[in-house]
Amino acid sequence: MPLKRVITVCMGSSCFSRGNRNMLPLIQSYLSTHQLEDEVILKGSHCFSNCSEGPVVKIGGRTYTRVSGERIPEIMEIEFGDLKQIEDGTSAQNQQ
Ligand code: FES
Repeated sequence: MPLKRVITVCMGSSCFSRGNRNMLPLIQSYLSTHQLEDEVILKGSHCFSNCSEGPVVKIGGRTYTRVSGERIPEIMEIEFGDLKQIEDGTSAQNQQ
């Protein structure tokens, strides 16, 4: 069984007030729409000490800065586009 990918949303006061409080439902919606909830651990974190670049979201080994709601679909596609479910219920990474 592959390891779950971890999404960590900074909930420090700076990122929270600059919009990260709005990222959680957007991320959850993407995961739900693409049936990825079981593939991912979604959690919040204290300040990443990168406030000037916030809002900050980490996914696996990557750090995304200046995240906005408009960027969430693009970021999620980069990170999870290979895993999302397609219409026949199989994962896209098995379609090669
Ligand atoms: S509050 Fe998010 S990096 Fe500091």
